[in-house]
Amino acid sequence: MTSPAQSREVPTHLPVLVGEVLTYLAPRPGAVIVDATIGEGGHAEALLRRIAPAGRLIGLDRDPEAVMRSEERLRAFGQNIVVRQAGFEQMDEALDELGVGLVDGVLFDLGVSTRQLFAPERGFSFDRLGPLDMRMDPLQPRTAADLLNTLSERALADLIHRYGEERGARRIARQIVARRPLRTTRDLVRAVEAALGGARGRLHPATRTFQALRIATNDELETLTIALPQAIERLRPGGRLCAIAFHSLEDRIVKRTLAQFARGCSCPADAPLCICGGRRMLRVITKKPVAASPAEVRRNPRARSARLRAAERCGDPAFAPVREST
Ligand SMILES: C[S@@+](CC[C@H](N)C(=O)[O-])C[C@H]1O[C@@H](n2cnc3c(N)ncnc32)[C@H](O)[C@@H]1O
Repeated sequence: MTSPAQSREVPTHLPVLVGEVLTYLAPRPGAVIVDATIGEGGHAEALLRRIAPAGRLIGLDRDPEAVMRSEERLRAFGQNIVVRQAGFEQMDEALDELGVGLVDGVLFDLGVSTRQLFAPERGFSFDRLGPLDMRMDPLQPRTAADLLNTLSERALADLIHRYGEERGARRIARQIVARRPLRTTRDLVRAVEAALGGARGRLHPATRTFQALRIATNDELETLTIALPQAIERLRPGGRLCAIAFHSLEDRIVKRTLAQFARGCSCPADAPLCICGGRRMLRVITKKPVAASPAEVRRNPRARSARLRAAERCGDPAFAPVREST
């Protein structure tokens, strides 16, 4: 675990798959783009260069520090950029307030930024000594410590199993409950190590448990499930959505949502007329998820687990329902 002196050095957040985002989002000059997770503004900057001089980028982030930093970084783009502190599940509200209707593109770059991960006081990393906070929005009422210290052993085991895909979840939950109250990242690492043993192989034994707690503290899967349909509805015909996921749970939600909106009519094949009213709203344009090149992974190890999926909004939303085969 890194000492407080070392942990003050925060490595720069390198945006992942930037070339691929530009290819799949295909932003044109004058386009209106939503960066639903603006973070440090790396993708936003690349997008703004493409949509300038008349385009507009609306950036959202839950984290007020990310809002401040991206505003600072992108100040030179003046009126072309506006950043709001908001969860992406509140995209409709945020865009309505700004008077933005349909948009040409939406980007989701999920998870946490390097800055969040490396800030010891945020408590995201098993590698940094800090409080068990893990909130992306520091005004959220519930921290990771609240979950760890109040949930039943069974609920904790379920949470760690479901969100961490951790096979030792029961043993870890038992150790957590026996060691309450847990206050620091070190307390949680020790509980995991007592349950599973020390570091073996490439993955630290606490990796999955920390992922699970972070997902639960921030309701990450629920908010993504709410936000994706809002983003799809906001796209104008021909508009595009890109989502970059860093673990299989969020990638599965992206894949299923895109597939669901790309399906259209679900009436039986021999039905003479469509009665379900389902209409295809999307065309998925990434047959398989797009991964980072070996060169990018060498430059930026965080890119190793990144998976990008993209889709394009179909024609006029007022069109009559179309069949799956059309
Ligand atoms: C991987 S970083 C994005 C980095 C950014 N693309 C860049 O180039 O700097 C993910 C960001 O998403 C934010 N975030 C996570 N969940 C969110 C949500 N539900 N709503 C808004 N922002 C969210 C995090 O606070 C974090 O800043």
